[in-house]
Amino acid sequence: MSDSHSDPSIRFTLHMLARGGDSDTFAEDVRAGLGSRPRFLLPKYFYDGLGAQLFEAICRLPEYYLTRAESEILGQHSDEIVAAVCGPVRLIELGSGSADKTRYLIEALLRRQKELHYFPVDISDVSLERSSEELLHVYPQLRITAYAADYFTALQALADAGVIERQDKRTIVLFLGSNIGNFDEEESREFLRAIRNMLHPEDGLLIGADLKKSVDVLLAAYDDALGVTSAFNRNLLVRINSELDADFDVRKFEHRAHYNERMGRVEIHLVSLVKQTVRIRAIDLEIHFEEGESIHTENSYKFDLEQLGELARQTGFSLEKTWHDSAQRFSFNLFAAV
Ligand code: TRP
Repeated sequence: MSDSHSDPSIRFTLHMLARGGDSDTFAEDVRAGLGSRPRFLLPKYFYDGLGAQLFEAICRLPEYYLTRAESEILGQHSDEIVAAVCGPVRLIELGSGSADKTRYLIEALLRRQKELHYFPVDISDVSLERSSEELLHVYPQLRITAYAADYFTALQALADAGVIERQDKRTIVLFLGSNIGNFDEEESREFLRAIRNMLHPEDGLLIGADLKKSVDVLLAAYDDALGVTSAFNRNLLVRINSELDADFDVRKFEHRAHYNERMGRVEIHLVSLVKQTVRIRAIDLEIHFEEGESIHTENSYKFDLEQLGELARQTGFSLEKTWHDSAQRFSFNLFAAV
């Protein structure tokens, strides 16, 4: 193993696991979602090439405090965070995106071990290639095995590859950006159990979770003044147009964010501004929208610490420690496998 080879390409492997990303699955998921009442589309399809870049733009918006709050926590506490899991470790990241925030942890880990094997998972192969190239260039001590896949497919592949069985190292799984909030309660438990199943006691899951707060602050984060979030949401329709030969008039759909107090979640919709008919030729489907009819595209649950502790307990973890940003808007949590 050439762990610190100077040629970055030798330290990089990319596994393309199409399931969930191939066009047949996309077509079937679009058919099923748009045919349901209420209509919905799966959020993993936001992240095509343009969608991944629009999401990076969202992370830089003044209203979208989540990314900055999480970066602040990682910037301030990365040594303490990695110290909470005894080393040496390997690092798995689910939904790595641009991997900008990951750098704090990579650097903290490389301060205490000579080399690091990093396993980023992302639905966007473009993001994986771009971020890996940068990381490998900056950190010669890094080796990257990347998976372009949805989370469950990647967890299975990591388990099949026996990555976690090598007991010379502990495993840290990273799940940033409050992506946990995009699952329903039961889905979160299923997902955390799937992670727990491939871990060993004393391995750790580091998980960012956005906190409940004033509705104004929450809604602004999901409906920014520049309209980037609106573009990100409506890009789903652009993607259906180009990949499934559809004729959505994207201007006739409006982005809407609503806070559901009872469920503790921000709900994201695309609302039809007029009565209209859309054709999706590749799947031979015609859909009639009433004025005001909506397509549900995502939920973003907001948490308190009690809920997070409960979630850990129910899924084979214990909530070891929580870090906050200075404005206490966001939480970063160590779930230890028990
Ligand atoms: N995980 C992000 C979140 O819940 C995803 C996200 C941010 C998002 N802004 C969005 C999803 C707008 C849909 C629409 O905060």
